[in-house]
Amino acid sequence: MIEDKFKRYTVTSALPYANGPLHIGHLAGAYLPADIFVRHLRLKRKDVVFVCGSDEHGAAITIKAKKENTTPQAIIDKYHHQIKDSFQDFGIAFDIYHRTSSPIHHDLSKEFFLNLYEKGEFIEKYSDQYFDEEFQQFLADRYIIGTCPNCGNDNAYGDQCEKCGSTLNATDLINPKSTLSGNKPILKPTKHWYLPLDKYQPWLEKWLLEGKKDIWKTNVYGQCSSWLKQGLQPRSMTRDLDWGIDVPLEEAVGKKLYVWLDAPIGYISATKQWALDNDKDWQLYWKKQADSADDACLINFIGKDNIVFHCITFPSILNAHGDYILPENVPANEFLNLEGDKLSTSRNHAVWLHEYLEEFPGKQDELRFVLASIMPETSDSEFTWKDYQARVNNELVAILGNFVNRVMILMHKYYDGIVMGGAELKNEEIYTQIGNAYNLVGESIETYKFRNALSAMMDVARLGNRYLTENEPWKTFKTEPEITREVLQNCLHIIGHLSVLMQAFLPHSAKKIQDMLNLKKDVFHYDEDLVFEDGHQLNLAQLLYEKVEDATVNYQIEKLNVKKVVLEEQTTQVQAAKENISFEQFAELDIRTGTILTAEKVAKTKKLLKLTIDTGIDQRTVVSGIAEFFEPESIVGKQVSILVNLAPREIKGILSQGMILMAENPDGKLSFVAPSAAVANGSVIR
Ligand code: 2FM
Ligand code: ZN
Repeated sequence: MIEDKFKRYTVTSALPYANGPLHIGHLAGAYLPADIFVRHLRLKRKDVVFVCGSDEHGAAITIKAKKENTTPQAIIDKYHHQIKDSFQDFGIAFDIYHRTSSPIHHDLSKEFFLNLYEKGEFIEKYSDQYFDEEFQQFLADRYIIGTCPNCGNDNAYGDQCEKCGSTLNATDLINPKSTLSGNKPILKPTKHWYLPLDKYQPWLEKWLLEGKKDIWKTNVYGQCSSWLKQGLQPRSMTRDLDWGIDVPLEEAVGKKLYVWLDAPIGYISATKQWALDNDKDWQLYWKKQADSADDACLINFIGKDNIVFHCITFPSILNAHGDYILPENVPANEFLNLEGDKLSTSRNHAVWLHEYLEEFPGKQDELRFVLASIMPETSDSEFTWKDYQARVNNELVAILGNFVNRVMILMHKYYDGIVMGGAELKNEEIYTQIGNAYNLVGESIETYKFRNALSAMMDVARLGNRYLTENEPWKTFKTEPEITREVLQNCLHIIGHLSVLMQAFLPHSAKKIQDMLNLKKDVFHYDEDLVFEDGHQLNLAQLLYEKVEDATVNYQIEKLNVKKVVLEEQTTQVQAAKENISFEQFAELDIRTGTILTAEKVAKTKKLLKLTIDTGIDQRTVVSGIAEFFEPESIVGKQVSILVNLAPREIKGILSQGMILMAENPDGKLSFVAPSAAVANGSVIR
């Protein structure tokens, strides 16, 4: 339970890598719980800052850039905005969504490093690391693949084997290969700055093992105590990389800060930026105050793969620095699975947030509701589309939406939507039950039991439905008008309180209900009285939720299956490498650049185009099997690569002199292999 003793709260959600879009696993893991928690604190009128941002450094970004044949900067710019938009659309109410590429963040990270450096905290050590001689660079763990010593998987990475899940050191790999050149890397000594976690172990045992027992979630505490039992080792805080924050030492030219040093500092730099933008003092939210009773309460929401960095490394850094508060709690969630399988970005097995928003416009709260109901709080949980359908239809539509809708319709039908007679809640039992619901929702959220909290909120809707059904105002309307009005107006109160309680979980629907009730406010704090003045006019009913049809979820399930099949085909269709050839054999190929001058379909064929190519040497005719992928007029003027010394052959009665080089994707799609910038026709390709 967070204690009310705190005057301020600093709440963070893990900074997502800006190397891909967000999926439902991200939302359920670190963002939705944090958002519910923060909204709840704000409803209690607490002083809270909620920060997040894009994590824009580390090998995750450079690898993605390499894959997409672009620059790290282009990658982070693209995904930072996409991720930011998704958060906003789902109502994740950050005070700031910042980025670690910003100067304020670079400066603060360097300041942290220098602070520890000047205190003599780092161990400076040489170690042998893999180096790619062709590319003249040290290789980050993810840039080395080889055979896993544990399971024999030939594609294990330098830090982890994704097949058997074991954590590896790059030097454990059998037959290591650089993913940059494909060559065997050499070992070369390099200097790095290590955080002496072994030295901090006694402090961590006291602060964490003693201090957080029975306070932190068992899944988090359990992991930490198991690491501490194994004994901590120094961990390098610098890397030989060309993307990231420069190590601020003259002798460290070309080296960068370890991404896990700078990323959590991103929480602080984001707060600094927010404070600058809003005329606030960031130090009140991060620094120890003269009177410790005045310190802010720091809570870090993360997924379970980030536990070590937030519970061991980051607190050690903050503590070594000395000026900063430490996390009160790190309520990490476990993982969310999807339709019986792990969510996976690389296998495209995911429900992407931006796709959901396109396919289910205006239905953010439906997903928030389902994800909060199945949140992986203490163990992994599972999202299935059938379950999504069942929860939306049986709970949101049948209970919550139905209750609100029935009351609104009857109020309009009987009373033109006008509330009469100093309408406060006139039912002791309902009053008590609503009071209990506020307590239960609050206690549950503050102990990170979001599923319980949501179900306590839904109990209020159940209570309303039951009360309405038992009192049957549609039967008493004619015979007992006063009782009927009282029942319906009591129901309006239940709806009002429901809308207040819903704000943390379902902010979009809460707003809709408050609009229907014509409550002219942006937010209802928990302590505000809900009073309908005599003569208060309700607005017309709007439908809150729609039933999810079988066809809708079947389509989504099918979509996931199709993606899987395509990916499986793709992986199996990549052709095996051919036998080696000599350089002389290669040199016999005369490949040149050329430009397509004319293109037309070859009559009575589906696949063939007749092209005239300016090869720089001559103009010649080439028949090419690309008609299924390109319209003739769209490729005229295009520069291509052409094998000019292929023996001429007759195809459909046309003499074809040469061959255009095409890359064939495993799904059969063709694209031109062409120089990345225009060159003179006839240039030799080798
Ligand atoms: O695992 C991740 O996605 C990391 N980018 C999380 C960083 S959390 C924090 F330290 F910034
Ligand atoms: Zn393995």
